[in-house]
Amino acid sequence: MKTLRFAIRLDQFEAGDSALKECAAILRRGGTVAIPTETVYGLAANALDAAAVERIFAAKQRPHWDPLIVHVSSLEMIARVALTFPEKAQALAERFWPGPLTLLLPRSPQLPLTVTAGRESVAVRMPAHPVARALIAAADFPLAAPSANLFGRTSPTTAEHVLRDLDGRIDAVLDAGPTSIGVESTVLDPLRTPPLLLRPGGITREQIEAVAGPLELYAAPQGHEPQALASPGLASRHYAPSAKLRLVEGHRESLVKAVRDEVASEGERGNYVGVMAPDDWLDEQVLAAGGLVLFDWGRWQDWPALAKNLFAGLRYLDKPGVSVILCPLPPEEEMGLALRDRLMRAAR
Ligand code: TXA
Ligand code: MG
Repeated sequence: MKTLRFAIRLDQFEAGDSALKECAAILRRGGTVAIPTETVYGLAANALDAAAVERIFAAKQRPHWDPLIVHVSSLEMIARVALTFPEKAQALAERFWPGPLTLLLPRSPQLPLTVTAGRESVAVRMPAHPVARALIAAADFPLAAPSANLFGRTSPTTAEHVLRDLDGRIDAVLDAGPTSIGVESTVLDPLRTPPLLLRPGGITREQIEAVAGPLELYAAPQGHEPQALASPGLASRHYAPSAKLRLVEGHRESLVKAVRDEVASEGERGNYVGVMAPDDWLDEQVLAAGGLVLFDWGRWQDWPALAKNLFAGLRYLDKPGVSVILCPLPPEEEMGLALRDRLMRAAR
């Protein structure tokens, strides 16, 4: 199939925008459209149309055990995908929606079982991206949308990233420029006691705990089939570049030492070493040795800035000739937790 490309300005568009109308029409016909959200681009289809949802799985080559997040543009829409909207969930939605928080709710019988991979709970979020919400409102049905990458690959933060993986496999992409947050939404089961944090993301653990009290952090047990896990997508190798990703402790000295070691051994084999380099961490002396491909990641400890550039950086460094990518590992605080999670899974 030919993938159509539509562009829209994030800061100035109208509800009657022609790109929105065209994309809504494709979705109404049961097609697939890659859409911008504030986290990453998602591959959307009508969540209430089982055949449309099936096209998402086919395009991404996503296994059917991995359930999809449903995106809504209003609280009224929740009733079409969830049986109830319990108070505990409402309190979090009130504080963090629209935004990068995904809540597990009891599934409505109207929702095709493929969306939840046969589970009794559905993952729902209301995106903060105005284009995403305008498109859902124009379509007038909730959209199922996983990240718009081939299964297991790095999540896309630009329309170009989407096309690199999915050109010819989806009906359209709606380009609104780079996404602002850069890592996916936080996935939370608010109905467990204590609430269970399934995937760290754009809303931090600290922010949620201020509203909901202490959270439990989900740790996928080893050696289980994904179907048996509380959140199946979280156990697998994911976000993976083709080059080897080597994580080092998040200190300047550790990174400099690792760079020296890798340049010595990889340089001998004629390979380049890629580095996710925080501002001012590599001095002239290190750079002078050559054999490096650098990505200017951002200021260390500015976790939101580093999150925004993470996937673009991994994609940039993952090129022919680069055999290993070195990356310092942020600490488990604020958005550092989500960065750490994505990096550990990419390196698995
Ligand atoms: O920011 C985001 O969340 C992006 C944008 C497009 O909204 N979406 C996204 O979707 O990251 P995806 O499919 O790449 O990741 C969704 C994660 C998966 O790990 C999946 O296993 C989990 O959420 N999940 C979805 N539905 C679930 C359910 N009913 N129960 C448990 N886990 C679920
Ligand atoms: Mg994904």
